[in-house]
Amino acid sequence: MSTALEHPTYNYKVVRQFAIMTVVWGIVGMFLGVILAAQLVWPQLNLDLPWTSFGRLRPLHTNAVIFAFGGSALMATSYYVVQRTCQTRLFCDKLAAFTFWGWQAVILSAVVTLPLGITTTKEYAELEWPINILIAVVWVSYAIVFLMTIKQRRTSHIYVANWFFAAFILTVAVLHIVNNAAIPVTLTYSTSIYAGTIDAMVQWWYGHNAVGFFLTAGFLGMMYYFVPKQAERPIYSYRLSIVHFWALIMIYMWAGPHHLHYTALPNWAQSLGMVMSIILLAPSWGGMINGMMTLSGAWHKLRTDPTLRFLVVALSFYGMSTFEGPMMAVKTVNALSHYTDWTIGHVHAGALGWVAMITIGSMYHLIPRLFGRTEMHSVGLIAVHFWLATIGTVLYIAAMWVNGILQGLMWRAINPDGTLMYTFIESVEASGPGYIVRLIGGLFWVIGMLIMAYNVFMTVKRSETVSQQPLPQTA
Ligand code: HEM
Ligand code: HEM
Repeated sequence: MSTALEHPTYNYKVVRQFAIMTVVWGIVGMFLGVILAAQLVWPQLNLDLPWTSFGRLRPLHTNAVIFAFGGSALMATSYYVVQRTCQTRLFCDKLAAFTFWGWQAVILSAVVTLPLGITTTKEYAELEWPINILIAVVWVSYAIVFLMTIKQRRTSHIYVANWFFAAFILTVAVLHIVNNAAIPVTLTYSTSIYAGTIDAMVQWWYGHNAVGFFLTAGFLGMMYYFVPKQAERPIYSYRLSIVHFWALIMIYMWAGPHHLHYTALPNWAQSLGMVMSIILLAPSWGGMINGMMTLSGAWHKLRTDPTLRFLVVALSFYGMSTFEGPMMAVKTVNALSHYTDWTIGHVHAGALGWVAMITIGSMYHLIPRLFGRTEMHSVGLIAVHFWLATIGTVLYIAAMWVNGILQGLMWRAINPDGTLMYTFIESVEASGPGYIVRLIGGLFWVIGMLIMAYNVFMTVKRSETVSQQPLPQTA
């Protein structure tokens, strides 16, 4: 073995960069969410300007939280986990650095173009074609760095977290390229190559798998590494994790039509989407149970370890939202929930409860280790953040459930003569109190994130850098 191989080092620089940007984009994205929540209470906050209107800030929020916050977290953790579990340095430092700067350039382009109203109008794929090409290049580079690192691993097997990360990276590449196939008209305008119902079907095949692979599979990769690490227990069942992986990726692909119930999509496709969504409950809960049971014999740690609490509560919300999702996919339930705030509640049970909580738990484990410390600056502040995040999420989703069912029932209520019992604006007025509660929940979240930023700042300030840490000896 060459000297270089005997003492190689991990590339922590790019992990540190992505980890810090996770916190920064988390604050920006959630702050935008709070602005939107406030605009729904006080519409005057649209300021009568096109750039600050709800319609333009909403996609900015979704792009910031999913792709900037979630994306940076996924890249930080996948780059860290693949190095640790393959016991090898990340493939090609320069390409890894390109993925960092390229991804930040994508995000900044979104920050400029979306408020200007430059959009394809496809949900979660709003960015216009020149940015899409940049995304494709960065994403393929990310795939090369990640997969080549696995290829040059010094371990015999590939740890399950890497399977989830790899599935997420490969699937997102395919989804992005297929859904964004478009004919450019000008530099800031293009038309999709698909038309009508086909366009809708491709869009929700993309949209649902963005949930399944971006917001779920990647974060499950995070779960499979950071839960056992923080609990200091091996994963409950390695066999279950493999069944979980294959079942999840095989079933998710077919569930997209549940976003298009009662539309021009053929009825059989809608029913297929519904059935596949119900089946999806099984692998989702298999994964949740695998994570939860990893804590067997370590439950007492929850009393003193708020980082572990973040990870476990994230799993609970994952279980909850993957129970709610299949129910909402049932056509008769969807007839009530669709277009209402119930959907928004479901989204944020997944987004705040699962995605943000598992990210934050992982970051509290990761950041001190990246900066040469054993713990964050203040464990007490992690506990404060935990309660703000948990209460904030509960306030948000409870308010949206009440609003959603209220709206659904008001819209379908009819008088004996067949006329509608309520006007639309009456349902908007009735939703007011729920919007205020959601705003309070959002504020709890942003305060929690600011506390995290302070804690991270203090941790980094007192750090000694560990970028040149030698590899552990392999068995
Ligand atoms: C402080 C925290 C947050 C607040 C206050 C907030 C608020 C909002 C608001 C007001 C909307 C628009 C709802 C509507 O159109 O009626 C929204 C949409 C959305 N948010 Fe958030 N959000 C927060 C965090 C997040 C996070 C962390 C994620 C993802 C990781 C996320 C993902 C989404 C998505 C995907 C939508 C679109 C939902 C849909 O179209 O059905 N949000 N958010
Ligand atoms: C078994 C798992 C799941 C199933 C079967 C499922 C099912 C559903 C259904 C039926 C809808 C409503 C569609 C509509 O009426 O328009 C929906 C919306 C949504 N779900 Fe889920 N869900 C699952 C898990 C999750 C998780 C874990 C997350 C987030 C992390 C999530 C994020 C979303 C988002 C963002 C939307 C809104 C899409 C939009 O209209 O913009 N889902 N889901």
